[in-house]
Amino acid sequence: MSRINKICVLTSGGDSPGMNAAVRAVVRTAIYHKLEIVGSMQGYQGLINNEFMKMNSSTVSGIIHLGGTILKSARSPQFRTPEGRKLAHDNLVKNKVDAMVVIGGDGTFTGARIFGQEFNMPIVGIPGTIDNDLFGTDYTIGYDTASNTVIEAVDKIRDTATAHSRLFFIEVMGRDAGFLALRSAIASGAEAVMVPEVKTDHQKLEVFLKNGFKKKKTSSIVIVSEGEDVGGAINIAKKVADEHPEYDVRVSILGHLQRGGSPSAFDRVLASRLGVAAVEALIDDQKSIMVGVVNREVVHVPFNQALKNKKKLNPALLNLIEILSA
Ligand code: F6P
Repeated sequence: MSRINKICVLTSGGDSPGMNAAVRAVVRTAIYHKLEIVGSMQGYQGLINNEFMKMNSSTVSGIIHLGGTILKSARSPQFRTPEGRKLAHDNLVKNKVDAMVVIGGDGTFTGARIFGQEFNMPIVGIPGTIDNDLFGTDYTIGYDTASNTVIEAVDKIRDTATAHSRLFFIEVMGRDAGFLALRSAIASGAEAVMVPEVKTDHQKLEVFLKNGFKKKKTSSIVIVSEGEDVGGAINIAKKVADEHPEYDVRVSILGHLQRGGSPSAFDRVLASRLGVAAVEALIDDQKSIMVGVVNREVVHVPFNQALKNKKKLNPALLNLIEILSA
């Protein structure tokens, strides 16, 4: 018999498409198992402000297809302080909450790990970020939708790039990780990709510009991750335009549109599976873990492991770009 009676769910950090589907799954699973459930507004900040939303089956109807998050999201500086976390805990006790499900990325899980230890609070994390940069899960919620959004935009830019025989540097999100850049580059047929994990090889870029772009002279697309070491698409494009005045160079920064929109079928199903798994893990007396998916099976990964290790880009995928742009 589980010791859990009332769960609090929250979304924190950068929002990602599919967070609502995950909230819905958490709420409905709690109801299914006859547990009480509330939502904290604006992530951890809602715990500090005592801003809870009573959740029931109808509060999560009609949200599976919505981007953003009905619980709002935030990065709470106050929750990083012991005083802020004490306030948060006092409010959870006042509201009789005895377990939590947090949906977000590494910042969210770092907060959860500390809070869980300090107050012996059972917490399970669901990975929600378009960056897909969490170790221990093949996919994070929102990554698939964001990849589709990027390729739709790149396809459109390709039309105009080809019409003018231009070289485009397109910047995508990913402060510290190139998963979104790499996947979208393959799927959009980009000629090159620049990611934070690989130091930019200027010689390689030169060879690509001379052999690839000059030879084809139709259009070229280079996908640049915002965290790339030269400092983003604007800097790279400037460098290339200075060195090659003969090329017609343009830049496009896709920005926050990558975080919005209706989640893909893949993200909705992933969010639904992980929402169910998170609540069932709490019922099973588990704590300080992230639920993820590896080889299509749900897995439980300790926060320590998910946070300590760095997920690596697949070198075979990096190689694909080079082969396919020949
Ligand atoms: O972590 C998700 C993410 O979208 C990153 O890819 C990006 O660097 C960052 O959030 C942007 O954050 P903000 O919305 O605070 O500008």
